[in-house]
Amino acid sequence: MTRAVATIDRAALGHNLARVRAMAPGREIFAAVKADGYGHGAAVVAATLAEAGVDGFAVSSLDEALALRWAGIAAPIMTLSQPLDGPTLAAMGEHAISPVVFDAAHWAALADYRGPRLAAWCKLDSGMHRLGFPANEAGALATRFADLAAVDLVGWMTHLGCADDPTSPLTLHQLACFDNATAGLPGKRSIANSAGVIAWPDSHADRLRPGIMLYGSSPMTDRDAEALDLSPVMHLTAPLISRRDLPAGEPIGYGATWSTPEAMPVGVVGIGYGDGYPRHAPSGTPIRLGDAIVPLIGRVSMDMITVDLRTAPGAAIGDRATLWGRGLSADTVARAAGTIAYELFCQLTPRVQFDII
Ligand SMILES: Cc1ncc(COP(=O)(O)O)c(C=O)c1O
Repeated sequence: MTRAVATIDRAALGHNLARVRAMAPGREIFAAVKADGYGHGAAVVAATLAEAGVDGFAVSSLDEALALRWAGIAAPIMTLSQPLDGPTLAAMGEHAISPVVFDAAHWAALADYRGPRLAAWCKLDSGMHRLGFPANEAGALATRFADLAAVDLVGWMTHLGCADDPTSPLTLHQLACFDNATAGLPGKRSIANSAGVIAWPDSHADRLRPGIMLYGSSPMTDRDAEALDLSPVMHLTAPLISRRDLPAGEPIGYGATWSTPEAMPVGVVGIGYGDGYPRHAPSGTPIRLGDAIVPLIGRVSMDMITVDLRTAPGAAIGDRATLWGRGLSADTVARAAGTIAYELFCQLTPRVQFDII
């Protein structure tokens, strides 16, 4: 009996890429595959999307970019949050990786750099106040880039802090700020994450940087993945490894946080926080077994969780429960567990077996 298995559905990735294209036709698409392809496996995700014609990839760091190159990915790659020093720029030049310049601390290394020409992006802070130069410095930054010996400024980018809220006034402010700051300056523009692709056409610009929607989850506060016609790429299952009938009033698991309200069947599923299932998921978090939802009861252990089998009294040892995926969206589970699907995906541990279909 195989323990936790994450099945990665390559066809679903292709479908979700087509959804990005349908929502923002004619734009460059740089798929965000940082954090090991949002926990799905960056190499397989990138190879699948490259085959489907994506234009390039966005990763966090040089290490993540190099891992893609070692995996045979030849498409353009940009690093979103890699600090830039001399050795980093040398490696980027050697492997044709595009740096994003986001801090004045990078200038010294950029000025000294003499390797193969680098296609750099400049990140502006339009109001999220995480990374980037103050947007009103764009003109001066353009002049500064023009003085660099071996670095070409190919584009301007910014990131939206509240695009998941379709009524966000901050997003309107950020779009206006970025537009004003870059008006008249040469170079491409890139603004949109998944929420931008879905809800903010004015953010589409030249290059999209979708992440979570490619994996089949909705970033939006007002629409779920099904409503957006996105297909889950990861299907996480684990087997029922034990079941028993308990009388009323019996406590379940560590801390005895839940007790049987009546005589009932209780099951144990072979997945826990040692596999990346969130320990903070409360009793009631949905788990699917066949056609039934068998809610989590009691605390999540390292290797096991306990489920309420009253809705699936015929469940047998070896039956596989779905933690998230087809029939139970990761967004629903994440909401119940007080987190986001991004974190659920990224937290899976090496103990989980990955099957690629
Ligand atoms: C700068 C930047 N662009 C794009 C993305 C992709 O975002 P999402 O997964 O919400 O589409 C991220 C993700 O955090 C990011 O940090």
